[in-house]
Amino acid sequence: MMMEEATISAIPTSAEGLSRIDGRAKVTGAAKYSAEYKPDGMTYAVLVGSTITKGTIATIDIKAAEKAPGVLAVVTYLNSPKVPGHQKAKNPGKPEAKSGPIKIFDDSKILYNNHPVAMVIADTFERAQYAASLVKATYNKEAHDTHPPEDISKGKEPWGGKETTRGTKDAWQNAPVKLEQEYTIPNEFHNPMELHAIIAKWDGDDKLTVWDKTQGVQATRGDIAKAFKLKNENVQVNSKFVGGAFGSALQVWPHEIAAILGAKLVNRPVKLVLSRPDMFTAVGYRPYTWQKIGMGATADGKLVGITHQAAGQTSSYEDFAEGPVNTSKGLYACPNVTTHYKIVSLDVGTPTWMRGPGEATGAFALESALDELSYKLKIDPIKLRLINYAKVDPEDGKPYSSKYLDEAYEMGAKQIGWDNRKAEPAANLHNGWLVGYGMGGGMFGAYRDKASVKAIMGANGMLTLQTAVSDIGPGTGTAMTLIAAKELGISPDKVIFEMGDSSLPEAPMQGGSATTATVGGAVYDACRDLKQKFQKLIGNGGSDNPDYAKVLKDNNLPSLDVTVQSSLGSEGRKYSMQSWSVHFTKVLVHPTTGVVKVDKVVCVADSGSIVSPKTARSQIVGGAIGGIGMALMEEGVIDQRYGRYVNNNLADYHVPVNADIPQIEAMFVNKPDPQINAMGAKGMGEIALIGMSAAIANAVYNSTGKRVRDLPITPDKLI
Ligand code: MOS
Repeated sequence: MMMEEATISAIPTSAEGLSRIDGRAKVTGAAKYSAEYKPDGMTYAVLVGSTITKGTIATIDIKAAEKAPGVLAVVTYLNSPKVPGHQKAKNPGKPEAKSGPIKIFDDSKILYNNHPVAMVIADTFERAQYAASLVKATYNKEAHDTHPPEDISKGKEPWGGKETTRGTKDAWQNAPVKLEQEYTIPNEFHNPMELHAIIAKWDGDDKLTVWDKTQGVQATRGDIAKAFKLKNENVQVNSKFVGGAFGSALQVWPHEIAAILGAKLVNRPVKLVLSRPDMFTAVGYRPYTWQKIGMGATADGKLVGITHQAAGQTSSYEDFAEGPVNTSKGLYACPNVTTHYKIVSLDVGTPTWMRGPGEATGAFALESALDELSYKLKIDPIKLRLINYAKVDPEDGKPYSSKYLDEAYEMGAKQIGWDNRKAEPAANLHNGWLVGYGMGGGMFGAYRDKASVKAIMGANGMLTLQTAVSDIGPGTGTAMTLIAAKELGISPDKVIFEMGDSSLPEAPMQGGSATTATVGGAVYDACRDLKQKFQKLIGNGGSDNPDYAKVLKDNNLPSLDVTVQSSLGSEGRKYSMQSWSVHFTKVLVHPTTGVVKVDKVVCVADSGSIVSPKTARSQIVGGAIGGIGMALMEEGVIDQRYGRYVNNNLADYHVPVNADIPQIEAMFVNKPDPQINAMGAKGMGEIALIGMSAAIANAVYNSTGKRVRDLPITPDKLI
């Protein structure tokens, strides 16, 4: 039996818009990624990882490696130059603490499997790799613990992670209809197509240039400057194109420090590209998280209480914390909510943020539990959500800046054909496959940070916009171009957007779904001010959208520019600002083999105005695909005996491929948020994924009557 032709739906006519301004450069190979630069005299570094998980290096023999052809240096903790400004985490475990200790080759300690013990630098990559194979280490081995948490008893409370209660503690226990269940998600890896890579080049002792995969050129500049005690202005960070990151490039990692100190040692530029297996230990991951939800309601579906406990893993040397329990505090109007979050230190690398960090984890548990409750109550899952619809922020009573999630429910239900869903599970057998429908929703803070943009109108009528943001793939330049073109009344092909360069005007990292709201808000403000400058030149009677080139010529000016810093005004802080989404899925499950085929996906986002329809659509499609991976495939498997990942490559760590992806429809409420910025645009990167894994788990239950509470939902769990 074949499912419907697997295609991504054609771009709907209502979503006409500018195609990616960098699309041609990317598909023709003209776009240069960090590893593709070639400064004169470049050398190549390869890391050697530990074969044990915990202990110390007893001996390390680098003689053979040093004698191998082309080798310039072999760095170990015994001979490594010290990094003068090693950082310690300021508030360990604080969710916003972006960098902890970034030590490498600092001492003999082994803290996780594949911990770097040496770095070989040679004149070619192949020679470096060969020499790396000659480095021999022996270890004093200690017993390791890589077993993920089974409850919160062994955990510690991270910064700000105390138990909290709104209303009465554990009130769900006294509700007429209730449930208590445990949910787990495994370690999941960002696995962007582009490997993490850095090229480091020193000019003398105090000037450094890096081409680096990073989500924030200026944040990286600041961290590197601190680590090497350099002035900010003497560190240049370039990251013109980034081939996906999903959170893995939000901080400086030890391999970046290694390349920089290596370049100093050999006095030549050093390139270091992580191997795919290294990507599983060197740049973070979504942490394994155990969760338990107690939930109770009245017989007519009013939530009485939710208790949400979570324990996520972290490393032994750094506290990583996120917010898996936050969704339970904020998504529904529930009077009594108790949350408790802990982290458990293991002999593993430190996790990090991954698309929908915390919320994607929490929404899997919360939205699965709510679905379970809907069957107990015999109330339709959408209706149950509407009964408990939050009209104001349930945590602090603040009004929302905008919320049209109810409209999103309605749009999505219609589009997926929710009427075809059978309320009884395992009751819809069609052509030998069990058919089921499910839904899951989510929210994520709609942030607008501070950003500066320089807008320059040239004599040729071309507008150049400059700001130090990175673009990890969502199409930032395209969205910014559209905002500027609209505000100035010029054609998008008259806009040049420059970014990915730490010397440009100040901009934050690309993270937390904040770029369109933040940088877009600043682009808008800069264009507005530039236009006013032109209007002043023209004087009274100037047209709304003047011929900018002509005005410059008439006034004998080569160009006109403004630099504007902009951020959320104080008015905005009176509101709770969130982006919302709901995912609907139709799945087919084979009763004999347990194979799950996602047949159709509809995602509706309530993220304010849509400034760039095509890239917004692909953002939603990409998030939905990530959610399919999270629901059905992704799982980093550790062999507990050795503390080592056994599927640390893209053949064994499964992600969805084209054949796994059905028709995905992205829909937008597309109503402006009046508070966040002039365009009314909120973020959508995280909400594109949050809620998707529950939507699939819920559809699998509707299809089979089997509730899978531990991701991923692989066939063995269904037969
Ligand atoms: Mo995102 S996890 O802020 O890249």
